[in-house]
Amino acid sequence: MKGVILAGGLGTRLIPLTKVTNKHLLPVYDQPMITYPIRTLVNAGIEDVLLVTGGNSVGDFVRLLGNGREYGLRWLSYAYQEGAGGIADALRLAREYAEGDKIIVMLGDNIIEGNIRAAAEDFANRESGARIFLKEVENPREYGVAVCDGDKVVHIEEKPEHPRSNLAVIGIYMYDAKVFEIIDSLEPSRRGELEITDVNNVYIDRGEMTYEILQGWWGDSGECIDALYRVSALVAETGANKMSL
Ligand code: DAU
Repeated sequence: MKGVILAGGLGTRLIPLTKVTNKHLLPVYDQPMITYPIRTLVNAGIEDVLLVTGGNSVGDFVRLLGNGREYGLRWLSYAYQEGAGGIADALRLAREYAEGDKIIVMLGDNIIEGNIRAAAEDFANRESGARIFLKEVENPREYGVAVCDGDKVVHIEEKPEHPRSNLAVIGIYMYDAKVFEIIDSLEPSRRGELEITDVNNVYIDRGEMTYEILQGWWGDSGECIDALYRVSALVAETGANKMSL
């Protein structure tokens, strides 16, 4: 299975830190943000990664990451997203790269304590479908939120005003090759983006979505300045990608 890390977007919630650079190059404790999702994928057994980014800092990603070997990758490729049309719009650029295989997608600002290797191996052995991870949070309104019927996820609502659970959908997704046809069928949301939540709802409606609760802490370090600060402190105190499951 190949990996895709999405590191485009405008980073407006972190202005002024993102006025002159891409959000994913900002420090989280002692490392640039983008290096954490790379390590998460490497720890999950992924050797080939496509990094999707945009804006004016592409050269800085290449300067930092080079061919990825220093970070444990066999192969690191780059793709350029024009504008910031949403997470699903950025993922669309991975179609040829995926070559019809399953992929594991990670948002470039998501940082986890644990290791998702078992889930990745299990998904790689499945024939088709998709998988998401959920995590209990105190502020579900900031995220995609699972609507549950018993222990079944029946729908996901993106940043709902009145969340129907406290289970956030975190930014690690596993998909079969159908994901690209699903993206082609999407309409932009109210905020003008192709939403990953709409992709996930198609898999749920088809009965092809599995999920699990993520062990260990999770942080969306790009959510706001406070989140960046909190996640940096968590990394300093406990370490990221350190918890073995
Ligand atoms: O962090 C988890 C949350 O991430 C999920 O719970 C939400 O369902 C999901 O929509 C997403 O919400 P955010 O509002 O946090 O997404 P954000 O706009 O911050 O984008 C997340 C990452 O995706 C970011 O690190 C960069 C990348 N991205 C984003 C956009 C809008 C792109 O590569 N291109 C884009 O056009």
